[in-house]
Order: sequence, then C-alpha cells, then structure tokens
Amino acid sequence: MNIIMEADMKIKTFKDQQSLETAPFYKNIKSANYAMTHLVNLMGEDVLYVETGVFQGASLCYILQRCDNIKLAIGIDQYKSYTDEFERGPSPTFRSQEQVDETKQRCYKNILSSGRKDRATLIEEHTSIAINHFDDNSIDFLFLDSYCSKQAVEEELERWYNKVKIGGYFAGHDWVYSGVNQSVNEFRSKYNIKSPLSVMGAEWVWKKEGNI
Ligand SMILES: C[S@@+](CC[C@H](N)C(=O)[O-])C[C@H]1O[C@@H](n2cnc3c(N)ncnc32)[C@H](O)[C@@H]1O
Repeated sequence: MNIIMEADMKIKTFKDQQSLETAPFYKNIKSANYAMTHLVNLMGEDVLYVETGVFQGASLCYILQRCDNIKLAIGIDQYKSYTDEFERGPSPTFRSQEQVDETKQRCYKNILSSGRKDRATLIEEHTSIAINHFDDNSIDFLFLDSYCSKQAVEEELERWYNKVKIGGYFAGHDWVYSGVNQSVNEFRSKYNIKSPLSVMGAEWVWKKEGNI
C-alpha cells in the first residue's frame, strides 16, 4: 500500500513569504465556489476548508477573501501533467508538465496576492496520499475539484466522505458533466444518503448527516 506519512508530504505554507499587493478574486455561476460562500459564512468560527484540485488557486483565494471565518484553507494538488474530461471546449484536455508548473507558480502568486496568505496551505500530493493528513470527521467544508474522469469522481467520493465532520458540508464542482452527476447520484443511492442535495450552476453540495 502506498502510505506516505505526514513528515514526508510536500506541504507548503506562505507565512514566511512576503505578501504581494492584494488583488480581488471574482467568480461567475459556472465556476467553482461561486455559491459556497453563503454556506461557509453561516458555519460559525474557525472553519477548516479543504479543496482538492487547486489549479491556479483562484477558488481558494476567492473563498478566503469572502469568508473571514475560515481559519485554514488547505488546497490539494499534485501538480503533475494530466488529462481532464470535464473541461469546456475540446475534451479531453491534456496539460503538459510545463503548463502545470506554470499553473503552480500562478497559484503561489495568487495566494500571496489574496491578502489571506497566512490562512492558506497547499499539500502538493496526489489525493490518495494527501488524505493521510486528515482524521475522520475533521473537515468542516470539503470542495472536490480534482477529479478529471468518472472513475476519479467515484474514487474521490469514497475516499473523502468520512473525513468531513457530521454537520459539515460535502461539495464539489462540474455537476454539468454526466460523469459527475451520475457518480454523485449513484454514491448517494449506494449509501442511502437522504440529506437534501443542492445544485446551483456547476456546483453540488449537501450537509453530511452520517459516515458511510
Ligand atoms: C479542473 S482543475 C481544478 C480547478 C480549480 N479548483 C479552480 O476552480 O480553478 C483540476 C486540478 O486537479 C489536479 N489533480 C487532478 N487529479 C488529482 C489528484 N488525484 N490528486 C491531486 N491533484 C489532482 C490537477 O493538477 C488540476 O490542477
């Protein structure tokens, strides 16, 4: 089994780095995290927010700027070349290592421009490794955006569900793709999850009521 312990994970914080001039981050209804801010803002203090598939960090910075109750936002991205079946335009989309390296640098710059750099942490690992950083029932708000195929959606749903607190929110992006909406619906049926599912734009979310 491929278990990498905490000490060996590539974890990046920004506390020791100089901030860049603060820039506002915006989203629209098709993007990740557009509608999640209301929910997060109503969650009380010291929210642990986790996002898989940070890409250039725009969603992470957007939610950090609008939700002052996020104590820590942990973004997970392995930053390795990949093929994505859930992108607008020609599908699947291939991103080379060179493009991904540029994306990672843009993410660092975005976090340093967010005005919230001290509350952001990146785990630069595959989700199957980053998962070992989290205890069961420990995440207040989880946003899944790393999956790039139906199989990956199925794996991520199973992998992350028990890491979210009971009463916390389990959410993700790309609902508009059948590989996502079918897998989410199948997962809910498989585990008889009755908590109402809310879909808006490309986002889906429900309040977690129990472990699987
Ligand atoms: C569609 S992008 C996410 C977009 C981003 N959340 C946003 O709203 O701008 C997918 C990202 O997930 C990452 N990724 C894909 N599979 C992954 C995995 N299994 N573990 C970690 N990162 C992964 C890719 O490197 C890529 O940056």
